[in-house]
Amino acid sequence: MDLLQLFYEDHDDALQRLSELREDIKNGNRDGVLDFLKFLSHALDEHFRQEEEALFPPMIEVMGEGGPVKVMIQEHEDLRKNHKEVSAALAEGKAVSEVLDVLHSIDQVLSAHIQKENQILFPMAKQMFSSEQLQAISKKGMDMRE
Ligand SMILES: [Fe+2]
Ligand SMILES: [Fe+2]
Repeated sequence: MDLLQLFYEDHDDALQRLSELREDIKNGNRDGVLDFLKFLSHALDEHFRQEEEALFPPMIEVMGEGGPVKVMIQEHEDLRKNHKEVSAALAEGKAVSEVLDVLHSIDQVLSAHIQKENQILFPMAKQMFSSEQLQAISKKGMDMRE
């Protein structure tokens, strides 16, 4: 499968889970929030890493260190930090109502991040690379997914 196509599908899944998370937050549903965090943990290990190791490096080679890729990497780091923080707080026994700020931040950052990748970054990648280059990027990324 094409790596970018897989990313678009992962993003759709993540947006669906974010809308469920909003309901869980509203209802104080701790198990639902924990489920979402488990999903995010898996995505951080898989989807985010695939972007960072297969897609972003060749984009940086073309565009340089700064620009949109740098922003994407920073947002990945922010999400990792927020995920760690909220997971630790809940593991310590805090209630969902006590971690609302971090949860809202995850919702905001991740929603906007997905939108930027879908609408700006991935179309840029499609323009920037030949189909052979895209195939090589796809292969590298797909090989990382079990
Ligand atoms: Fe990303
Ligand atoms: Fe992504």
